[in-house]
Amino acid sequence: MFRVINKIEKSYDENVTLFFEDKISTCEYLSEESRKLINKVIEKEKFTGKFKETIKFTFLENGYLVTLTYVGAGKKEEFTEDRLRELLFSTLSKMTGNILLSSEEPDLCNTRILTEIFYNINYSFDVYKEKKNAKINLDIFKEQKTEGMGEEEILAISTNITRALIDEPANIINPESLAETAEALGREFGFATEILEEDKIKELGMEAFLAVGRASINKPKLIVMRYFGDKTQRDKKYGLIGKGLTFDSGGLCIKPADGMLGMKEDMGGAATVIGTMCSLAKLGVKKNVIAIVAACENSISSNAYRPGDILTTMSGKTVEVINTDAEGRLTLADAITYAIRIEKVSEILDVATLTGAMMVALGFAATGVYSNSDEKYLALESAGKYWGEKYWRMPLFDEYGELMKSDVADLKNSGGRWGGANSAAKFLEEFTEGLPWMHLDIAGTAFSDKDKKWIKKGATGVAVKTIYTYIKNMI
Ligand code: BES
Ligand code: MN
Ligand code: ZN
Repeated sequence: MFRVINKIEKSYDENVTLFFEDKISTCEYLSEESRKLINKVIEKEKFTGKFKETIKFTFLENGYLVTLTYVGAGKKEEFTEDRLRELLFSTLSKMTGNILLSSEEPDLCNTRILTEIFYNINYSFDVYKEKKNAKINLDIFKEQKTEGMGEEEILAISTNITRALIDEPANIINPESLAETAEALGREFGFATEILEEDKIKELGMEAFLAVGRASINKPKLIVMRYFGDKTQRDKKYGLIGKGLTFDSGGLCIKPADGMLGMKEDMGGAATVIGTMCSLAKLGVKKNVIAIVAACENSISSNAYRPGDILTTMSGKTVEVINTDAEGRLTLADAITYAIRIEKVSEILDVATLTGAMMVALGFAATGVYSNSDEKYLALESAGKYWGEKYWRMPLFDEYGELMKSDVADLKNSGGRWGGANSAAKFLEEFTEGLPWMHLDIAGTAFSDKDKKWIKKGATGVAVKTIYTYIKNMI
């Protein structure tokens, strides 16, 4: 549990106080004797409050054993929100039980960041383990107490919904169970869902989407989520599209074992837009948003789609299949066309674990973003900074588009290795019909193989909070 309190009513396993360097003081509510002891120990140990420096005191106060931990936050002049994230993550990750945290410095007691880090640490994918990972309870001591769940708490919960969906394996999350989960979350958080079945998808002419999912026993589902927060401007609708490959084996162009292992995460974009819809609806954001997920599984069987096949997308454009492992863009192309032509969205943002090439370009540090609008890109980037997430703009040069031209069809689905993330983005651009558009390739950021700064191993839930803030602040 996470609470902000202004009265201490119980004893804690850990009492943590944060200080800037050379700005250490001892709490006034302790006895003269204890304060003297603390000051002596600080002097002896030469504790000055350097970044991540900690010191622990255990002493008797009125017959009770008290344990205090002082944590250094480094120089005040060097303070950044990201440094605070890193400090809180490393400090709290090592603790268990009931923790009380306080600081005289408002910057170090930032409830938004504390909430974020608390929910980040407390999430762990342990449903299938007999022995569960330890959780913490965190109370923040503040003069001014806040009531109820704030924006940051709903966002943290939504982010964890996204993480859990990604962490679940592909034998649990398939197109059908993903659709059912979206429906259940819609009921709980306040958005409407409609699930289109295979025959309806066929009727719509989404041949590219259907081809990708055809070899799997798990039938494709088109998940449509609708939230109308601004009924005065019904024609202003924001389209969110998430890549929903519940598993990507690569298809006939099968992936090597190493590359296939992580492919349960290939519905990361879908999980991101679902989590974002939860937060937008729950927080009553005054915007209209339609989220689309073309959910399917890229599998192999005798009826699998093949290299060389020519597919007619819903838009009418034809695509020559060069590589069945470049499947995400085929499903996204049809989902984008559906959003534009059927749902009549006025703007598009898609999120996808689209290319390995994106990971080669930016590693795990930043999400690559492609956009035809400078202004929109900058708005997204600054929403990202607010939540400690890095976004980096990538190019949409014509040269990359040239790579996607086919001799036998309007387009091909792979432009080869070099600049592979960029040519994939150019492929998607072909389906955006000139609308404002942004594409987030989260292949490197949706999942982390190890703990880093304030990123926990496993699904990260990246982009949920950022897209929420971006949409909320949009004009
Ligand atoms: N889902 C993968 C991209 C991916 C790779 C995401 C690793 C997360 C981690 C995508 O469908 C894919 O296989 N892309 C190919 C495209 C290529 C065949 C043109 C790739 O990037 O290798
Ligand atoms: Mn693939
Ligand atoms: Zn994929």
